[in-house]
Amino acid sequence: MPEKFYITTPIYYPSDKLHIGHTYCTVATDAIARYKRLQGYDVMFLTGTDEHGQKIEDKAKEAGVTPKEFVDNIVEGSRGVKDLWKLMNISNDRFIRTTDDYHVSAVQKIFRAMYEKGDIYKGSYKGKYCKPCESFWTESQLVDGKCPDCGREVVDAEEEAYFFRASKYADRVRDLLVNTDFLEPRSRVNEMVNNFIDCEGGLQDLCVSRTSFTWGVPVDFDPGHVVYVWLDALFNYMTALGYQNDKYGDVEKFWPADVHFVGKEIVRFHAIYWPAFLMSMDLPLPKKVYGHGWLLLDGGKMSKSKGNVVDPYILAEKFGVDALRFFLLRTFPFGSDGNFSNEALIQTINVDLANDLGNLVSRTTAMVEKYFGGTLPLEQAGDEAMDGELLAMASSLRDRYEEQMEAYQFQNALEAVFKVIQRANKYIDENAPWALAKDMEQNGSRLGRVLYNLLETTRICGVLLTPFMPESMERLFAQVGAGKAAQTWDSAAVWGVLPENVTVTKGDNLFPRIDTEKAIAELEEAAEVARKAALPDIEIEPQTEEKVDFETFCKSDFRAVKVKACEAVKKSDKLLRFTLDDGTGVDRQILSGIHKWYEPQDLVGKTLIAIVNLPPRKMMGLESCGMLISATHTEKGEEQLHLLMVDDAIPAGAKLC
Ligand code: MSP
Repeated sequence: MPEKFYITTPIYYPSDKLHIGHTYCTVATDAIARYKRLQGYDVMFLTGTDEHGQKIEDKAKEAGVTPKEFVDNIVEGSRGVKDLWKLMNISNDRFIRTTDDYHVSAVQKIFRAMYEKGDIYKGSYKGKYCKPCESFWTESQLVDGKCPDCGREVVDAEEEAYFFRASKYADRVRDLLVNTDFLEPRSRVNEMVNNFIDCEGGLQDLCVSRTSFTWGVPVDFDPGHVVYVWLDALFNYMTALGYQNDKYGDVEKFWPADVHFVGKEIVRFHAIYWPAFLMSMDLPLPKKVYGHGWLLLDGGKMSKSKGNVVDPYILAEKFGVDALRFFLLRTFPFGSDGNFSNEALIQTINVDLANDLGNLVSRTTAMVEKYFGGTLPLEQAGDEAMDGELLAMASSLRDRYEEQMEAYQFQNALEAVFKVIQRANKYIDENAPWALAKDMEQNGSRLGRVLYNLLETTRICGVLLTPFMPESMERLFAQVGAGKAAQTWDSAAVWGVLPENVTVTKGDNLFPRIDTEKAIAELEEAAEVARKAALPDIEIEPQTEEKVDFETFCKSDFRAVKVKACEAVKKSDKLLRFTLDDGTGVDRQILSGIHKWYEPQDLVGKTLIAIVNLPPRKMMGLESCGMLISATHTEKGEEQLHLLMVDDAIPAGAKLC
């Protein structure tokens, strides 16, 4: 029986389309799932969506659809969550949606069991509530009066609610965190223990039901309450195996999970409440929670509201799925934050993939074709002095790689592989096959060996890169002539698996070089289009709350004015100079910064509205006596303006009141 390995990603909120940050964690999980399968494990890889809660309810209302219709669109719709994972070649074995019936009824059973045990009790909650995070906070937990997780405004809230007796499990959870390897990286342990367990008042009981909205799992014995979204969501890791339901039957086989990959801001839920919930239900605890860092943009968190999310679709379509997967795991240390940039992405593709790996494959296969017609000769001449270092590095690579992969240090595992690839490129220069090829009779068998060593090194690296770039490595194997037996985990630790008379098939360059400037310009343009598309169609400035008294208002003198002449002010892009008939018999001059919206000749003869008792003001050396009234709003982020034009039957000078 192969050993089992159960790995999960967090289940994503389908409140918006997913971005590169979400893709990062899923690609990392996929790389480990593929790595474990390569090693021969029976793997269960779970991902899914966390679909309940107030935020979804609000968003659906805004969109004028039901919450279920709203989440269906983001999860199942075109370019939704499932489409994205398909595009990114994610090999999940299961996909859970927390709105699935089997999950909903399982959560109800779990909630009832905890209640009957006395671990859930009814009380009343008074505190500060962060709507986007769906979290209650006490005054002392706030940071500068705002939500400590997301930094947004919180509101006062009070409601009757059920509470989970987290305090009862505080010592056991503390022990788990401090005295075992449950939470990694270890640097996250102190923060959890100090802030949530060893803090003033100790670990607080957790509010686990809501009455202020309805989009959630109903508490079946108390209508009006829905289960707190985190209790509902965390149990996905078990209901998706069949816990408290008949849909699946894999709890025995796969639980406890080997590792939950989660982003650092949700470590609290996974490292404190999740084990406490499981302790309450007398269930085994997962073996590990790994809290990875964030991908940042310009040093800050990506968010839809800031309009700075990076769209994985655009990048994958432009550079290829494998290149994007590789970049994410090659560049950023998994446990820490990393700064995403298009420049870094293109540089990694050009240096590691196009130059180092792509060139190694294409140079080697081209030489095998050129010098040997595609098939190496059986007679080959090794040279310990020339070959020793490369062979030693390549044969021992799997061990170094494995050590790093076991610690989820993707960056280091890939660094080890690329050291060998770089050594192989150097080996080409040292052995100068083109020089050997000048005298085939004398040097043909040595040349055969040199090229064999290169193919064999490439094969070993290819096996170890498969979890990161599955599709490209299939193409690499086809080019270097590596059949199935030469693609296995075992074969990656053995030198000499390719037959000596191996046949190569020269193919397209695996990773074409990217023209950096052109690609950056195209990406920026695409980002701008996406940014504009995400902006609201029409935005209108909110009305002023502050009241103005009637007497003050009456002091403003609004008049109908007729445009006698209008011209652009020299050296100004914006200003138009109006000569107006205001009914007094003396022309009035007003300057207005509206050239962006109107051509002067189109306004002559129109009847407009002006306020005429503002003190005169100088602009570009010209005096403006009053101001023309216009209506403004914002459309797709662009300011729009319409001069107020009235019926031409209104005589110049008529007063508005
Ligand atoms: N629904 C919860 C998870 C419930 S698990 C029982 C949730 N969803 S989320 O969609 O908001 O986030 C899912 C994951 O994406 C989190 O682990 C989060 O850290 C990760 N990321 C979101 N933005 C990210 C980056 N910019 N960088 C890296 N990961 C980030 O939380």
